[in-house]
Amino acid sequence: MMLDIQNLYVSYQGIKALRGVSLQVDRGEMVAIIGSNGAGKSTLLNAISRLVPAGEGRIVFNGVDLRRSIAHKVARLGVLQVPEGRQILGEMTVLENLQVGQLALGGRPAKYSLSDVYALFPVLEERHAQLGGTLSGGQQQMLAIGRAMMGAPEVLLLDEPSLGLSPLMTDQVFAALGRLNADGLTVMLVEQNAHRALELTSRAYVLDRGLVVREGKSRDLADDPSIIASYLGV
Ligand SMILES: Nc1ncnc2c1ncn2[C@@H]1O[C@H](COP(=O)(O)OP(=O)(O)OP(=O)(O)O)[C@@H](O)[C@H]1O
Ligand SMILES: [Mg+2]
Repeated sequence: MMLDIQNLYVSYQGIKALRGVSLQVDRGEMVAIIGSNGAGKSTLLNAISRLVPAGEGRIVFNGVDLRRSIAHKVARLGVLQVPEGRQILGEMTVLENLQVGQLALGGRPAKYSLSDVYALFPVLEERHAQLGGTLSGGQQQMLAIGRAMMGAPEVLLLDEPSLGLSPLMTDQVFAALGRLNADGLTVMLVEQNAHRALELTSRAYVLDRGLVVREGKSRDLADDPSIIASYLGV
């Protein structure tokens, strides 16, 4: 077990965002977290990354209790989040953004080189000298993933990478994630685009109002009438 979350609670000033969530991610897996607006998906990723404080519960990564750690140390263990809205540095070049990603190494060996990132996202090499803020939304998402790659992720946490992207860009970003996972990277993918997320991943959890209401093989969930009605509706 790489990531083991048990009975996790998170509240914001009385608003219960997570109400006893348990989930597990094995090394090499690609797992989806789907659910409607406000289900607690971002809160879950932010609790793992230690960007929001957790209440009760356990968050254990490779045997290390992340509850005892702080955000930048969690990143230096290789738990790397690509946040919602990407948060790339608009006033820095593409190359500089990628170099910033190396800060998460914290002495650990690199896993991907700059040329690995450029091989996966050729457009980033073409635009390496351009300011991050001038990239399209899809290119910024690629840059955010590339930046995380430079920090040698053990597990990559993605918060709605398809948000605001055209179907074509979504295809490209998801194909890249599929390739990274095929090469062994562990991925946790939060998505409102449940259809695409279930297509890409092997296992999934459904969050609803702070609770895991379903879990299973992505293919089974994608075929399940109640999931179709609630999350894959026309
Ligand atoms: N900083 C905050 N302060 C107060 N309440 C918050 C805060 N962040 C989230 N919440 C609340 O916590 C609950 C879970 O929010 P969260 O952002 O985790 O959901 P989500 O599944 O990521 O939703 P979305 O699909 O809209 O991104 C919601 O009720 C939300 O309003
Ligand atoms: Mg969210």
